[in-house]
Amino acid sequence: MLSSSARIAARRARISNIAALRTASTWANVPQGPPAILGITEAFKADSFDKKINLGVGAYRDDQGKPYVLSSVRKAEDKIVKSNMNKEYAGITGVPDFTSAAAKLAYGADSPAASRTAITQSISGTGALRIGGAFLARFYPGAKTIYLPNPSWANHGAVFKDSGLSVQKYRYYNKDTIGLDFDGLIADIKAAPKNSIFLLHACAHNPTGVDPTPDQWKAIEVAIKDGEHYAFFDMAYQGFASGDTNKDAFALRYFVEKGHNPCLAQSFAKNMGLYGERTGAFSIVCESAEEKKRVDSQIKILVRPLYSNPPIHGARIASEVLNNPDLYNEWLVEVKGMADRIIKMRALLKENLEKLGSKHDWSHITSQIGMFAYTGLTPEQMDQLAKEHSVYATKDGRISVAGITSDNVGRLAEAIYAVKG
Ligand SMILES: Cc1ncc(COP(=O)(O)O)c(C=O)c1O
Repeated sequence: MLSSSARIAARRARISNIAALRTASTWANVPQGPPAILGITEAFKADSFDKKINLGVGAYRDDQGKPYVLSSVRKAEDKIVKSNMNKEYAGITGVPDFTSAAAKLAYGADSPAASRTAITQSISGTGALRIGGAFLARFYPGAKTIYLPNPSWANHGAVFKDSGLSVQKYRYYNKDTIGLDFDGLIADIKAAPKNSIFLLHACAHNPTGVDPTPDQWKAIEVAIKDGEHYAFFDMAYQGFASGDTNKDAFALRYFVEKGHNPCLAQSFAKNMGLYGERTGAFSIVCESAEEKKRVDSQIKILVRPLYSNPPIHGARIASEVLNNPDLYNEWLVEVKGMADRIIKMRALLKENLEKLGSKHDWSHITSQIGMFAYTGLTPEQMDQLAKEHSVYATKDGRISVAGITSDNVGRLAEAIYAVKG
C-alpha cells in the first residue's frame, strides 16, 4: 500500500507527464527535407525582369511560352462533358476502353503479345512506375535490384526505393562527348548479376535527351537477354521524340518481338498534355493468357489498398482521343507539331550560338531528342545563367527545350554564349 503522500506524488508525476506530452508536438522529431525541384519556379517567379526565361519545367509550352491544351483533347473533353456521363467508380484497373487503347498505342495494333498483356490504368507515369516497382518487389523471382541509367529522371530512384527495390546505376551518359556512353552501358549490363532488372527510357531520355540508335538498341537487347535480365520500360514521351508514336515505340516493340516479356510505364501527361489529369498505364507482357490472368489478379490486389481505383476524367478523354478515328488523326498531327517545334528550337539555338561566334561544338543540341537538352554547362555556369541573365534551369545543365520560343531563343543563345563562350 502506498502512503497518501506517495500517492499524491505519483499522481503529480502522471499529470506532469501528460502536460509534457501536450507541449511537445507529436511531430517534433520530423526533420526538414531538402527543397524540391520547384525551387527553380520560385526563383523564376521572384525575378522581376520581364525577359526572364524558365527552362526548368518539364511541360510543353507553345511558341508564345504558354501552356498548351491540344485541340483534339479539348474536343474529346467537350464530347464527354456534353454526354452527361455518370461519375461512378471505375474498376480497380480503370477505364477498360482507355487501357486497351493505351496498350495498342504502345505495343502496336498488331502486337504479338496483345492477348497476354496485363494492363492497369495508373496515376500517370509516376503511378505506373510505382505499381511496377511494387509488383516486382513482391513477385520478381530474381534479385530485387533495379538498375537505372546514370543520370535518370530525378524521381526514379525514390519511386523504386520506396517500392521496396534496391537501386543501382548503369553508365549511360558520357560527359566528354555529351552523348551516349554506349560501351559503358553494355559493359554494365554484362557485369550486373544475372536476373537484374534494367530500367530503360523507351525514348526521349530524361534528363539527357540522348537516345540509343536502333542498332544500339539491338545490342542492348542482346546484352539484356544474355544476362537473363528483365527490362522495365518507362515511356513517358511516346511521340514526343520523333513526332511519330510508332517510331518512338521501336525499342519496346523490338524487345517484345525478340521474345522478352517486359513491363511498361506509360504516361499521357506529355503527349496529350494531360499533366494534371494524371492519366497513365502500367502493363506487363506475360508468357500466356493464363499467366496474364494470374498477374492481373495480383495487380488488383496491389492497387486496391493503394487507391482503390483510378480517376476517370483523364482516362475518358484519352480514350476518346485514341478510339475516335478523327480525333486520333488530329492528335497524331498535334503530337508531331509539338515534337517539330522542339526540333526547330534546337536548331535555332545551335544556329544562334554559332552566329554569335561560339567555337564550341553544339551539335549535341540537335542530335539529342525530346523535351530536354543536356547543354554540357557546369553548375557554376547554370548559376551564372540564372543570376546574371535571368535564365532558369536545373544545375545539371539540363534545359527544357519546350520553354524556348522564337522570341527568346536569341537572348538565350546570348546568355549561354556569355557564360560559356
Ligand atoms: C522519364 C519520366 N518518367 C516518368 C515521368 C512521370 O510523369 P507523370 O507522372 O507526370 O506522368 C516523367 C515526368 O517528367 C519522366 O520524365
